[in-house]
Amino acid sequence: MARRVRVIRNLASLRRAIARYRAAGETVALVPTMGALHAGHLSLVRLARRKADRVVVSIFVNPAQFAPNEDLATYPRTLSADLAALAEGGADLVWTPPVEVMYPFGFATRIVPAGPAQVGLEDRFRPHFFAGVATVVAKLFLQCAPDIAVFGEKDYQQLKVVTHMARDLAIPVRVVPGRTQREKDGLAMSSRNAYLDPEQRAQAPALYRVLCHYAGELRQGCSADAALAAGRAEIEAAGFVVDYLEARHAETLEPVASATREPRRLLVAARIGTTRLIDNVAV
Ligand code: PAJ
Repeated sequence: MARRVRVIRNLASLRRAIARYRAAGETVALVPTMGALHAGHLSLVRLARRKADRVVVSIFVNPAQFAPNEDLATYPRTLSADLAALAEGGADLVWTPPVEVMYPFGFATRIVPAGPAQVGLEDRFRPHFFAGVATVVAKLFLQCAPDIAVFGEKDYQQLKVVTHMARDLAIPVRVVPGRTQREKDGLAMSSRNAYLDPEQRAQAPALYRVLCHYAGELRQGCSADAALAAGRAEIEAAGFVVDYLEARHAETLEPVASATREPRRLLVAARIGTTRLIDNVAV
């Protein structure tokens, strides 16, 4: 049965609610989101539910991580459907502050992550992005004081950046990765999939198909240069413009030699029409 989910929009009420959980000896998990929830987000909520007594989901479309030419104004906002899904999905509390609560007048502090945030992947195409993410995620960690926080592997570089940031700033939270949820044809679930027209939607599974195929080739010791060039060509043949297709060290996201025994991750970002999609798989 769906439980009641409490919606909080101001910091004092949030802190009181979290303090009550703590006073009762309960552990708290946080699932940060920008709303427009789909089954991928809800899988993180289920994972959080298994790991902690209380599940807080934040819904905040964070202006600081959008560039002026990106889709902030048109980013899908579906709060009532999100709340219904979260009640069903087992969240206890939804933290959805207005922009002026997150960024009050005179706000003047930014966290600019390095390490996995500066390796020439998403950061090369969205230079503002990880400072925006790190700043808001640090605030969410401080506001909600969770024991654990769940982030999807779908945004693999983001997962590594927030894990690194929590460690560097000694924020006492354990970042837990959640597996990427996919449509039946393999396309990673994303709120941006809604922007695809039927023809683009039919081509979009090429991304995951190519990732799986060439991750297999890499595992078998095939040269990374050859595999990546062939993979790129296949993605382009499906109608995409490729921003990057790279095999990187799975933890640092730095480039690695083809013959390495280190764990690797194959990551892609590509545009079809005006929609930019990202995905990744383990090698
Ligand atoms: P958003 O895009 O809403 O994603 C929220 C969380 O859901 C992220 O951890 C993301 O990796 C995860 N997620 C998205 N699609 C998924 C899928 N198909 N399977 C599993 N998990 C998936 O990422 C953000 O918001 C923001 O950058 C945020 C971290 C909230 C900071 O503003």
